[in-house]
Amino acid sequence: MIPGPTPVPEKVLQALSRHPIGHRSKEFQDLVESTTKNLQWLHQTQNEVLTITGSGTAAMEAGIINTLSRGDKVICGENGKFGERWVKVAEEFGLEVIKVNSKWGTPLNPEEFKKILEEDQQKEIKAVILTHSETSTGVINDLETISSYIRKHNTALSIVDCVTSLGACNVPVDEWKLDIVASGSQKGYMIPPGLSFIAMSPKAWIAAENSNLPKFYLNLKSYRKSLLSNSNPYTPAVNLVFALDESLKMMRDEGLENIFLRHKKHKLAVSNAVKTLNLQLFADEKYLSPSITAIKTGELDAEEFRKSIKNNYDILLAGGQDHLKGEIFRVGHLGYINDRDIITVISAISNTLLDLEKITAQQAGEALEVATKYLKEK
Ligand SMILES: Cc1ncc(COP(=O)(O)O)c(C=O)c1O
Repeated sequence: MIPGPTPVPEKVLQALSRHPIGHRSKEFQDLVESTTKNLQWLHQTQNEVLTITGSGTAAMEAGIINTLSRGDKVICGENGKFGERWVKVAEEFGLEVIKVNSKWGTPLNPEEFKKILEEDQQKEIKAVILTHSETSTGVINDLETISSYIRKHNTALSIVDCVTSLGACNVPVDEWKLDIVASGSQKGYMIPPGLSFIAMSPKAWIAAENSNLPKFYLNLKSYRKSLLSNSNPYTPAVNLVFALDESLKMMRDEGLENIFLRHKKHKLAVSNAVKTLNLQLFADEKYLSPSITAIKTGELDAEEFRKSIKNNYDILLAGGQDHLKGEIFRVGHLGYINDRDIITVISAISNTLLDLEKITAQQAGEALEVATKYLKEK
């Protein structure tokens, strides 16, 4: 139960084990046509959604290098490890970065974006780059509001990392008028790592005409051109596309609303259950990510705690990153996760605390009762 790679359904595993086919064949083109349509459904967009062989970072980097030019001014939201990464990528490509920071565990403040954008009368800011669900802390940022301020600015593009929000909660790309949305296969998509996705708005394509940053493999114009014939510029990870086709069909069968509700219930079950176990949440409770819950362990070493859960219950939890190592552990509830997984992880956490004499048997029982209550909610 880490936030990626996430569990892979049996049907998807079977699709992966097929013999590869030629990527220029009609059979493969049909597959690209079907996955592209379903990706648009998942993103709730009429925009093109391109598939890149590469991890989520490839899609984010592609968004930046295809639409911006050396020296461009951008705002980067930074309230965790992944926000920090986008600052690094932007600086690596010679962009001038204005940082909007927030303490790890707290959300970005949309009003800070608004102020900087309103003050930019010369329209020098070319993009706002941010992470929707900050996996390192379990915080979800208020993308809808921030995006509304970007639209008022009228020049800046939104470049958004939706790697752990897409397929977990509502990301209506067209309704929120998001320009560039990046995600990766090993998350809500329920398939192994190796593919990433990028949705590009018409405004993003216009910006692509003027971008002068170097690119070859990640030049999205090549992907766009190939997509006209349901093809790829280079050899794609064919078997991952088989898997994608299967997983998107599963998602369509479940339906967007049900997928979002499942993630919401799991978030509420985990976050409320751990509170009955004398554990504290790391993230601001009003902004909990639907995909991952970060939990403080107080005087207990979170790494030892994680190890014990792995050894005794065969459940892998994620640790804290950077300065949070040893301080928190993170429960991933993203993708192919069901109620049984949640009950099991709560039991494993409770039993480990019980063994350490940190809680009573009654508290362990209460945690399960609380989790079950949220799981049953309609
Ligand atoms: C929010 C977020 N952004 C970006 C990434 C990077 O994705 P990848 O490792 O697929 O390049 C991750 C991976 O965990 C993530 O959680």
